[in-house]
Parts: sequence; structure tokens; C-alpha cells
Amino acid sequence: MRFAFYDTKPYDRESFEAVKDAGIEFRFYEDKLSLNTAELARGCEGVCIFVNDTADAAVIDKLYDLGVKVIALRCAGYNNVDVRHAFGKIHVFHVPAYSPHAIAEHAMALLLTSIRRVHKAYIRTRDYNFTLNGLTGFDLYGKTVGVIGTGRIGKAFINICNGFGMRVLAYDKFPDNSLNAEYTSLDTLFKESDIISLHCPLNKETYHMIGADAIKEMKKGVVIINTSRGALIDADELLEGIKSRKIGAACLDVYEEEADIFFEDFSGHIIDDDTIARLISMPNVIVTSHQAFLTNEALAGIAKTTIENIKEFFAEGCCKNELCYHCGKTADCGSGGKPKKCF
Ligand code: NAI
Repeated sequence: MRFAFYDTKPYDRESFEAVKDAGIEFRFYEDKLSLNTAELARGCEGVCIFVNDTADAAVIDKLYDLGVKVIALRCAGYNNVDVRHAFGKIHVFHVPAYSPHAIAEHAMALLLTSIRRVHKAYIRTRDYNFTLNGLTGFDLYGKTVGVIGTGRIGKAFINICNGFGMRVLAYDKFPDNSLNAEYTSLDTLFKESDIISLHCPLNKETYHMIGADAIKEMKKGVVIINTSRGALIDADELLEGIKSRKIGAACLDVYEEEADIFFEDFSGHIIDDDTIARLISMPNVIVTSHQAFLTNEALAGIAKTTIENIKEFFAEGCCKNELCYHCGKTADCGSGGKPKKCF
């Protein structure tokens, strides 16, 4: 079986080559999947893609014409794939979980870095500047954190926050009462949280859930963490909130327009995106470029599950991690966890 592997970085190649499988040949390409690059998949049974590849209706039609049978996402989120359009043409599967701890721990790393000004102190001491002025932070102990989305990553983040002695408010459409958190309305979460961390998927309902109206509801000085998907936040409104001093800090691992920027080296270039440039210029904004997943454990888990998905699909004609065309959720959403034939 041949797979066109798009948006390849050295760490992807290493982790996939470490999971030796004689049955699958990966053709590694640095290009992202788009209408212009779909042709690279000619002669391949499948494509293996990541968060910033595009598999919209036009790309899916092109891949289908080329004889591609499957799209193997090597990530959890699948907002970049038109799953409904793929129905009847191409099977789509993803890696629902690899290391939720990797993302939850990165969210906490960003939060601590931001509120204890570690990013500032690191630069100062490298320049032998040992002053403390302007580095005053605040304790997390006793603060209220609002967690939106309490799935695998949200849960791991809540457990970390419990360890810090924080009060945890949570919002999810499917509450998990085993968690040490108080489920509440989104309004109450916005009003009472000192820190808000986003861990829900991006879909029509959650698009720009943090916009002008939500920010208006929040406490002055609120810290917003987004390690989920950029478009959960209206970045221009976030910037306004920071400029008006309403938002105390923002920790962003994702950005709505990241596809053309993240994972590439633009040092020495002029960035055309004024919003990200202005956000980065703020002393209370930390941006990492979709890095939360990047641990040895997560990379190994991604490679292992992606390869298992491919093998399971070609052996059995279905795969437990297939995405359901009916509702956009995983194939096991309505079938008790059993693999389901969608076609
Ligand atoms: P999950 O599927 O285990 O949990 C998502 C939770 O969000 C579920 O409990 C679901 O009920 C809830 N949810 C759905 N719609 C909601 C809504 N409208 N409001 C509130 N909650 C809602 O997913 P997991 O593994 O926890 O991942 C969460 C997100 O994290 C992914 O969708 C992905 O976008 C992002 N992610 C980011 C990574 C990074 O490197 N920055 C890596 C992996 C995932």
C-alpha cells in the first residue's frame, strides 16, 4: 500500500519510520495537501494528513478521481476535512487519542510561563539583568479556572488544576460527573473564571465562541488559554480585549489563520498577517506554533495508531477510528464502540 504523506517534518518521518511496517510505503512530501498538491497522491491508496492540510470538497473529488481510497488523519481534530462530502467516496479516519497529557501539560506550561513571567525572566537573565521589576505574578492556588470541553484533554487539564488547588468550573454538552469540577453554564463560567482554557472541538457551534460578547462577560484580567483550534476565538476581538486591558493575558498554541504561518520559519521575512503580528508584540501574549502535541510519547502514539488504522481498514473494510458521515463524530458514536461499515 502506498500513502502520500503530506506536510512532512523531520520528527514525523522519524516517528513513522520507527514503527516499521513492510506493508505500507509512505511517500513523504513537505507540501500541504491542497487542490494544487493533490496530484502527488497519484498511484497511492491513501493520503496521510495533519491539522493544516486541506481536504475540502474540491480536494476530496480530486483525490477520488485519482483512485485514493482513504484519508488517514494523523491528528485528533478533523475540522479541515469535509467528512460529509467524503461519504460514498473516501473513508476518513483519525487518531482520537495519543497523549492527552501532552496537550494538557502544554496548556499548563503556557499558563505558568505567562502568569509568572518566565518568558521575560529568561530573556533578562541571559542578558545578566537580574532585576525583578515588572515580573510580579499571581498564585494559581485558590483561583477559579473555567474549562470548556471536558473530553480527554479537558479531563487531563482539570486533574492538573486540581493538583494546584484551584476551583474548577466546567462546561461541556456531556458532563462527566466523576470529575472534581463544578459544571455550570457558559455564562457563569465566563463571569466567574480567572482563567479560561479551551478544550472543545471546532465546529459550527463553537466557531468564535470567544468573541466580543463572551469577552464582555469575563472578569477583568482574565487569562485565556487556547490549545484546541484557533477559530474558537475571534482573534481580532481578542486583540481588542487585550488593548482595552480587559484580558490580562492570552496563551495561544493555535491561531485561526495559522495554516499559512505555523510550522514554517518566517524569521527574516515580513509577516502579512497584522493580527498575529500585533498579538505577538503584546507583553502578555504567548504564542507557540501548534506545539502542544509535540512530545516523544504523543508522536509515537500518533504513528502507531495511524498505522493500525490503515492496516485495520484494509484488512477488515472498516476501522474503529473512522469518522461518521452522519454526524461528523467518530464511527463508534452510535454503535457501542464497534467498528461500523459506513458504506
Ligand atoms: P474529545 O473528543 O475527547 O473531547 C472534546 C470534548 O468537547 C467532548 O467532551 C465534547 O462533548 C466537548 N464538546 C463538543 N462540543 C462542545 C461545545 N459546543 N461546547 C462545549 N464542549 C463541547 O477531544 P480531545 O482529545 O479532548 O481534544 C480536544 C481538542 O483539542 C480537539 O478537538 C483538537 O481540536 C484539540 N487538539 C489540539 C492539539 C494541539 O497540539 N494543540 C492536539 C490534539 C487535539
